Amino acid sequence: MSQFGSVRMEGVVKKHGSFTALHGMDLSIHPGEFFALLGPSGSGKTTTLRILAGLEEVNGGRVWLDDADVTHAQPGERDVAMVFQSYALYPHMTVAENIAFPLKMIDTPKAEIEGAVKEAAAKVNIGHLLARKPGQLSGGQQQRCALARAIVRKPRLFLLDEPLSNLDAKLRIETRAELRRLQRALGVTAVYVTHDQEEAMTIADRVAVFMEGRLVQTGTPKDIFMKPATVAVAGFIGTPPMNLLNATVADGLVLLDGAPVLATEARAGDVVLGMRPGDLRIAAADMPGLPARVEFVEDLGDALIVHVAIGEQRAKLKTDASGAPPAEGQPVRLAFAPEAAHLFDRASGQRL
Ligand SMILES: Nc1ncnc2c1ncn2[C@@H]1O[C@H](COP(=O)(O)OP(=O)(O)OP(=O)(O)O)[C@@H](O)[C@H]1O
Ligand SMILES: [Mg+2]
Repeated sequence: MSQFGSVRMEGVVKKHGSFTALHGMDLSIHPGEFFALLGPSGSGKTTTLRILAGLEEVNGGRVWLDDADVTHAQPGERDVAMVFQSYALYPHMTVAENIAFPLKMIDTPKAEIEGAVKEAAAKVNIGHLLARKPGQLSGGQQQRCALARAIVRKPRLFLLDEPLSNLDAKLRIETRAELRRLQRALGVTAVYVTHDQEEAMTIADRVAVFMEGRLVQTGTPKDIFMKPATVAVAGFIGTPPMNLLNATVADGLVLLDGAPVLATEARAGDVVLGMRPGDLRIAAADMPGLPARVEFVEDLGDALIVHVAIGEQRAKLKTDASGAPPAEGQPVRLAFAPEAAHLFDRASGQRL
């Protein structure tokens, strides 16, 4: 793995007029890591990536690449390659010329360029398309051409802004696995922007979750799935995401509609009780559980999503499709393991 390609941001502030896009961002990325920036639309992911690329001036804070303070360095001084959501290929140039472009910019000898272009194109399986123009390629091939152009120069940092968003679902899953293999093979640090939580969770070593211009949690996909730091993160991760039910704590018990559902050490007050759909199940007929009513059942083929009402609140549970599905309108009791419950303070949204 490469020794180079560490990234550090400290207290980075970005304003657009009176609007603050980033409120003091602290971020640390290790050499060789595949690091995802995940968050809903408008949360500041692209802004962060553009700041790393040097395309955006900051209004406060510092940025380091390895040991160099690059806060005010020009894009060309940073040795980073960026792949945008739209591939930004030059339509009048062939695939080979597009891939060669970054090398021409730094006056690489012609003989060297040809070999490097072939090598980069081969890595993304477009070696046979070098003579075509971008308009004669499929979306996936254009995507690969943009990737080849980014890797031809062997940058220390690979910045990718939703690079697969224009692909259909199947090609997207294939390409993301390829991208991951390629990044591993090159040993290059990758910073990967996506608003698709499943994509971030499957591709990244670590994920930073953005909300409204703030970094709310950084960790491995497993950390974030198992211990979401806030209600907002909990509600953003998982398919379907976590159920979030208003509850109260009194006398060491979590109460839902006044009925005790769980022992807790949390202080008395208003809380949000979180439960992953896969952690909820329908209890056997004679067993205790949380009273609920089945509203409808979605059959996904290999799984069922059962929508239930618990008093005035709604929840989903995910079960395998082997048993008979519960009938709509049927009263049921819901069971879950106490350790599968997540508690959040309702006022602050913070995990308890
Ligand atoms: N040039 C600009 N002028 C004013 N506001 C801007 C400008 N560029 C970005 N913003 C605002 O900054 C916020 C963050 O934008 P950014 O592009 O970083 O979001 P994002 O997380 O990448 O979202 P998406 O998933 O939709 O791409 C948004 O609210 C956006 O409207
Ligand atoms: Mg964006």
